[in-house]
Amino acid sequence: MTPPHAANSAAARDIANVLHPYTDLQAHQETGPLVIARGKGVRVYDDAGKEYIETVAGLWCAALGFDNERLVQAAVKQMRELPFYHGFTGRSHAPMIDLAEMLIQRAPVPMSKVFFANSGSEANDTAIKMIWYANNAWGRPGKKKIIGRVRGYHGITVAAASVTGQAANHKAFDVPLPGFIHTLCPTFYHEGREGETEEQFSARCAEELEKLILAEGPETIAAMFCEPVQGAGGVVVPPRGYFQAIQPVLRKHDILLVADEVICGFGRTGNYWGSQTFGLEPDILVCAKALSNSFLPISAVMVNQRVFEALAAKSHEIGTFGHGFTYSGHPVPAAVAIETLKIYDEIDIVGHVREVGPYFQDELRRRFRDHPLVGEVRGVGLIGAVELVEDKAARRNFPPARKVGPKLVKHGERHGLILRSMVLDSIGFSPPLVITRAEIDEMLDRFARALEDLAVQLRREAIAPVA
Ligand SMILES: Cc1ncc(COP(=O)(O)O)c(C=O)c1O
Repeated sequence: MTPPHAANSAAARDIANVLHPYTDLQAHQETGPLVIARGKGVRVYDDAGKEYIETVAGLWCAALGFDNERLVQAAVKQMRELPFYHGFTGRSHAPMIDLAEMLIQRAPVPMSKVFFANSGSEANDTAIKMIWYANNAWGRPGKKKIIGRVRGYHGITVAAASVTGQAANHKAFDVPLPGFIHTLCPTFYHEGREGETEEQFSARCAEELEKLILAEGPETIAAMFCEPVQGAGGVVVPPRGYFQAIQPVLRKHDILLVADEVICGFGRTGNYWGSQTFGLEPDILVCAKALSNSFLPISAVMVNQRVFEALAAKSHEIGTFGHGFTYSGHPVPAAVAIETLKIYDEIDIVGHVREVGPYFQDELRRRFRDHPLVGEVRGVGLIGAVELVEDKAARRNFPPARKVGPKLVKHGERHGLILRSMVLDSIGFSPPLVITRAEIDEMLDRFARALEDLAVQLRREAIAPVA
């Protein structure tokens, strides 16, 4: 097979040399990459100069869009002053100290200390190891199991992939590890029963959770990880009363709650934290992505006083907290994160999301809810999804082999949109938070055209939806 790319083009060299994350590696040898060359605002441009609106802010992360001179200058200044130092054995530096203080000040519930890592996955692995360490400190070595949720996403390092609840992250990787268990996905659209209200469904989710805890033995369960809105699992917005129903169950059995705010943090849902939008009171909070506008890699784990005291006591007994990355709190990403948080405050990013978010949600529903290919439109703030179905009345998705979502992504590209298709052909929207109403209109106009092209293609393939 000869790839249709000119020899020595960027595409041909990509095919020859790059092993891509989250890609069908074999198909890629034929299809090749989409090479992105530059970005500005909510838009990116490929190496042929074609313009696209980035509907998912890259990977749910470039909240301020794809250029920002202040962030460039923050990095340059820090590179000149102190381009590297670490935090091992009590060493420190101003960016790490300032950023930790800023995060503690902004936390949704009282938090005690911040640990830095480089990615969401590393931060979640760190949280899991902290939870194990703390339970050893508390003298309960048997209380170690971690609960995740079906369709939850917490990353791909070995422990984070184990708490993730998605088949593609488990299959052929020999995870989840023993001791990781999963409870019901809170999707009212798929799991809600005939005649059940959202609140009743939430109560049922809590009952299912407690059944799982009792079956495993509460003395064996250490923590539960929750995204306020499940992002990469297809943008699952919790049903009304969900966290109010499950948190008492966790408290009753002394199970820690970890809020994975990697997507929801920093304004995405219309509050600074998703925890505030949905009433989570976590013991540990994990954030990344928009923390630095993703211009440089950095993530953070915040722990409350109770958890910190356990870590402190055990580390004192052992002589060190034997965990940390060379780049934990790296001064350059930390400086960029500090500047990012300052910008969020100055431009009132949360206020902006509260202003344009409802418009985005209304328009998404108004334009697409009744489309024959659309089963559900859902979302909150500036995160949303359009789920494609084969049978609208039966809420039945297309067979995955038909690759209906990926087909729509291709149509989107032609119409100048970078789209993200997820499980059950859910097309996610998580644009840069600075998006304007006019840009939302433009994005949804293009999406409408792509959806019509998909409908034509499906009709042509004689797999039109059941009306
Ligand atoms: C909620 C959540 N947690 C963790 C991660 C993993 O982050 P990373 O890809 O930086 O390891 C992601 C990535 O999308 C995420 O959405």
